[in-house]
Amino acid sequence: MDLRTLDDWRVQYLGKKGQLSQISKQMGKLAKEDRPVLGQSVNQVKSELETALEQVQNELEQVALQRRLDAERVDISLPGKKPFHGSLHPLTRIVQEIEDVFLGMGFTIAEGPEIETDTYNFEMLNVPKDHPARDMQDTFYLTEELLLRTQTSPMQVRTMESMQPNAPIKVIVPGRVYRRDEDDATHSHVFNQIEGLVVDKNIRMSDLKGTLEQFARAVFGKDQQVRLRPSYFPFTEPSAEVDVRCTNCGGSGCRVCKHTGWLEILGAGMVHPNVLDGAGYDSKIFSGFAFGMGPERIAMLKYGIEDIRQLYQNDLRLLRQFSRI
Ligand code: PHE
Repeated sequence: MDLRTLDDWRVQYLGKKGQLSQISKQMGKLAKEDRPVLGQSVNQVKSELETALEQVQNELEQVALQRRLDAERVDISLPGKKPFHGSLHPLTRIVQEIEDVFLGMGFTIAEGPEIETDTYNFEMLNVPKDHPARDMQDTFYLTEELLLRTQTSPMQVRTMESMQPNAPIKVIVPGRVYRRDEDDATHSHVFNQIEGLVVDKNIRMSDLKGTLEQFARAVFGKDQQVRLRPSYFPFTEPSAEVDVRCTNCGGSGCRVCKHTGWLEILGAGMVHPNVLDGAGYDSKIFSGFAFGMGPERIAMLKYGIEDIRQLYQNDLRLLRQFSRI
């Protein structure tokens, strides 16, 4: 029995044309004294049927309600479904972290073109056409004069030119660079650099070292040490390669630092007088320092990533490890 059959039943017995009203309609055919008897019986039967109907109807409604509650039941003890959490790529994260450190030291951030001219990428950085230093950076040429920048250093010159007349400069330049390298665990033909440039009166090598020390401590821990080793870049003089204590062994020597205790993290130096003068800053009055670092390398050292290609493959197994830190 369900509510619908019950209603059919109601119509059949209690409805306007139902059996009870049919019986009532016979009333006229009866003798006058018999009519109240029939009337009473009909009323009594009617009220009993209505009571019974109401009772069954209540029961059926209860059953229907219970069935619905059972069907719609929510088990609040079930574990929830976690929505997938997006997160910043480790490389984006490290670039932003480095930017924050330098912003905190009063630097501004600039960006430059990835398609560069030979003039800015090389000539004005003290690297003439036949200079052997060009071999250090194998270049993708688009035309004889246009190329994909091999470094962010051309922004040193572009910034100095845009800052005239001779305003002090404190800028970092993050961006993509390109080199004709075979991709392997430590090389990629596209990678990132963050250039730094400070130009003013009386800028010294000690300013460079202090700035880089501050940077290294912010990124690698407050006890980090920084070591400058003599090196060569055509656009800085003197030039240095900058090391930090091995992030893996702390300096005692291990596989990662090839048992030297130190890891190279960037190239730097005092801006070469030719570069200053060429960009409109009189090298007799102004001096400056510059540095260039690779955020991929910094991220690999900081997070213990051993193959640079892992930073470009977007493998969720790697990316998910960065979703909550
Ligand atoms: N541009 C250099 C490189 O790509 C790094 C560098 C930048 C060195 C600024 C000195 C000063 O190797």
